[in-house]
Amino acid sequence: MKSFQITRTLPTDATDAALRADVLQGLTGTPKTLPPKWFYDAYGSELFEMIVALPGYYIGRLERELLAAHAREIGAVCGARTLVELGSGSSEKTRHLISALPLHTYLPVDVSESALRQAGQALAAERPDLHVHALIADFTTAFTLPPTPGPRLVAFLGSTIGNLLPRERGVFLAAVRALLAPGDALLLGTDLVKDPGRLVAAYDDDTTGLFNRNVLSVINRELGADFDLDAFEHVALWDAAADHEWIEMRLRSRREQTVKIPALDLAVDFAAGEDLRTEISAKFRPDRLTGELAAAGLEVERFFTSPDQAYALTLAVPTDHATGPSTVRTTASVS
Ligand code: SAH
Ligand code: AVI
Repeated sequence: MKSFQITRTLPTDATDAALRADVLQGLTGTPKTLPPKWFYDAYGSELFEMIVALPGYYIGRLERELLAAHAREIGAVCGARTLVELGSGSSEKTRHLISALPLHTYLPVDVSESALRQAGQALAAERPDLHVHALIADFTTAFTLPPTPGPRLVAFLGSTIGNLLPRERGVFLAAVRALLAPGDALLLGTDLVKDPGRLVAAYDDDTTGLFNRNVLSVINRELGADFDLDAFEHVALWDAAADHEWIEMRLRSRREQTVKIPALDLAVDFAAGEDLRTEISAKFRPDRLTGELAAAGLEVERFFTSPDQAYALTLAVPTDHATGPSTVRTTASVS
């Protein structure tokens, strides 16, 4: 039996309203910012997969190697029957986990409907025994998971947690913790602090430039704006401040210009050389990671790093976990 189901947890008009609110707030603030989730329309998701294939973008390769090497051990520790994957994208690397776990259901969660459909349909065809239930949802806002058999493993791979600001990470990790019952676990992929030259090189190329500018195309299409993509330069820089330690992607206005956004009845002035921050990509040190997990009520059960210490996978469990795995989940929500 082949089983693929897709559920939109938020109506389309709520997504439109969220984009409007984010664009209004981000482009009228100082400095100008946009949240990275708006990169991922169908073209943005394709561009991301092209980035993953670039030799300089080591994250996908290192994480795939770690999953291939340790999926069995992860399966032995948590024995999950439901795998929830937040920001699942192509679900490509996830196959290592899926084959190592005694799974009943795979629940990929993403804002990108195109990525969910493509990945979910392919997986359901490959694994007719597996229930694949994709959720179109924003993992930074409250959403409900369907009832599925436990124990449950929540995977958050690709270092996507690094795209959240520190305070957002705290809220996010606490929400994930609230989702976990005794016997459940979190598998978290994080990029580690390393030579800034290697870090910047992973974000400073033409494909990443197209990905970065794609957020402007999304705003043009969805809100009728008139961004001229060629009038913005792609910038990737390393912010070494101790409480940051992140790559920042920006779009730098090549000239003084005014952009009209009719759906918001807004005109946005850019000075020549003015930056719009489109993404942070935080890099972690093991002690910061352990501290942030502990603050959310999670403790490290296993910590796997790539041989060059460039990337880490952490298996974490609730600090106050009770004994014995749970069996059937009722509806739960994450925010
Ligand atoms: N986990 C995959 C994809 C990483 S790219 C991998 O490691 O290769 C980040 C993914 O997260 C994209 O598929 C994007 O659509 C999704 N995403 C980004 N922000 C999101 C949000 N707020 N809620 C849900 N999905 C989000
Ligand atoms: C999804 N996320 C972890 C990627 C990153 O590395 O921060 C997105 C990305 N941005 C530029 N290149 C890739």
